[in-house]
Parts: sequence; C-alpha cells; structure tokens
Amino acid sequence: MLHRNRRLRINESIRSMVRETIISPNDFIVPLFVVEGKNIKEEIGSMPGYYRLSLDLLKREVKELWSLGLKSVLLFVKVSEKLKDNAGTEALNPEGLMQRSVKTVKNAVPEMIVMTDVAMDPYSAYGHDGIVAEGKIINDDTTAVLSEMALSHAKAGADFVAPSDMMDGRIFEIRSLLEDEGFHETGIMSYSAKFASAFYGPFRDALDSAPVDAENIPKDKKTYQMDPSNREEAVRETLMDIDEGADIVMVKPGLCYLDIVRDIKNTVNVPVAVYQVSGEYAMIKAAAEKGWLDHDAVMLEQLTAIKRAGASMIASYFAKEAVKLIS
Ligand code: PBG
Repeated sequence: MLHRNRRLRINESIRSMVRETIISPNDFIVPLFVVEGKNIKEEIGSMPGYYRLSLDLLKREVKELWSLGLKSVLLFVKVSEKLKDNAGTEALNPEGLMQRSVKTVKNAVPEMIVMTDVAMDPYSAYGHDGIVAEGKIINDDTTAVLSEMALSHAKAGADFVAPSDMMDGRIFEIRSLLEDEGFHETGIMSYSAKFASAFYGPFRDALDSAPVDAENIPKDKKTYQMDPSNREEAVRETLMDIDEGADIVMVKPGLCYLDIVRDIKNTVNVPVAVYQVSGEYAMIKAAAEKGWLDHDAVMLEQLTAIKRAGASMIASYFAKEAVKLIS
C-alpha cells in the first residue's frame, strides 16, 4: 500500500491539523424570544433549556452572550392575543415590543449585531405570515406591510432585518423602502429557501403563532413556504432574493436540507446562513433526556455538519451551549 489514510488520524494532534471545518463563536446567530413584563424567564415546553425573556432579562442575556464571544442575535416577540389582527397593526407600533427589544439590546451591547424577524405571524390573529382573505394569503398587500415593518425595525436600530415570510417580491419592496428612507446601512438577511417544514412546531409553541383552525383559514403554510421535495426551486428562490437586494441568504431548516445548502453555496457569492430550527433542537434534547444520545457530541456533530455543508453562519438555539463547550 502506498497510501494509508489512517496516518492522518493517528492522534488528536494530526487530526486537528488536517481538520477542515472548525466552529467558533463567529459562526452563530442567537435566536431570542421576548415577552412583555418584568423579571420573566419562562421555559418553552417543547424547547427544554430555552426561554422567553422580558426586556430586563434580555439585557442581561445579551451581555452574557457578548462575553462568550457571540456577536449576533435574532429577535422574535410574543405578542398578546388582544393585539393580533389581520393587518399587522401592532408590528408597526414604534413603541411595540420588537422596537423596544432592539433598543434594549443596542443600549446594553452597542456592538452586538441585532437582526429582527420580519413576518406577520406573531401579530396575526390567524397565525399566518400574510394578510388572509377568502381563504388565501394576499401577497402584495402583505409585502407592503412587511416593508413598513422592516422600516420600523431599522428606525429602532436594527442592523439587519430578516424577512421570514416567503412572499414573492418582498426583498425588493423592503430594500426600496429602506433606500428611499435613507437606511442604506441596514442589511437584509433573507429567508430565501424556507421550506414548509414540520420542524417548526416548538417555535410556534414559543410564540403561540400556529395557524388557527378555523373555516376559510389555510391550515398550513404550503402556499408560500417551499415544498420539501424541491431542490432546483431553492436555488431559483435564492437567486431572485439576491437580485432583489438581499445581503445574506438563508436555508431553513438545517439538517434535512444540507444538500440545498451546498447547492446554494456553490451557486451564489453572498454569505449563506442556515437556521437550525426549533424541532431540530427539540429532537436532540428529547433523545438526550432519555439517555439515548450523547447531547454534546450530537450537538457539535450537527453544527459542524451544517458548517461543512456551506453555512457561513448558523442561527441556532444551541449557540450558547456550543460556544461554552468549544472555548
Ligand atoms: C415565522 C417563522 C417561523 C420560524 C421562524 N420564523 C415559523 C413558521 O414559519 O411557521 C421557525 C423557527 C424555528 O422553528 O426555530 N415567520
């Protein structure tokens, strides 16, 4: 034998020298759930070890994240039922929870990159990412609201707005309004290939944002989120978002879609984010709770696989745990 591949695996020293993928705090975006109130830290039932935080605790949390080397957060808010409607009215409130959350993080840690979720579902009485009429999600009326929502987040101080809705043309609408209003430095991280996945369940528990079960309300998000069967369409969606002005594109969920991540990585020349979603987090937690999987090892293996597939950054509920473990 002229070649013995095992020579490069003999011990950890040589393995670490030939290692191709290394995860670091720079890779992560930390999703955070915010609620009204004071001193509130509520564990999310289907996401053990993950919490909804009130603004005072959000402030403390982002300081800790920063001290661990984490540089970016992605904010989601839980909106009270009485503020929900079919028009996203509360989403545009300059004193709304999202707008106050952005200011809270920026005041606590000015260098922290603040990304905001731009989508109607947390504000929607029907649990949809768009305006509902006659059993349908109305695209262009929705993008008008989304661009106003993005502008409102930019005014509050967001560094990046992150539209997660999958309406057509929303990146163009958002970019145009931000430019018109002088927000040239506010970036857009587009959820460009977001699939209609069953892995979002725990997230919808966290925000109480699942589509409602009522007559003439679509039961799922399949008319706007992508069919998990489609690969070429993911590339098409992503290229369109880049044309429309996206700075960062995203594939979501992570683990089941790593082929898509690699296709997109090989096709585009902007950073590609991957969202390791709530259901992926829940699966690892549940299996570890039962003693069936080694939590830390599986967590790091999955994060490494996501980066190896081509992720420039990973939105992950494991960010803090992973960073503590690797540092
Ligand atoms: C909705 C939104 C969802 C997630 C992020 N933004 C859920 C959905 O599309 O229904 C899911 C994230 C996760 O599961 O961790 N705009």
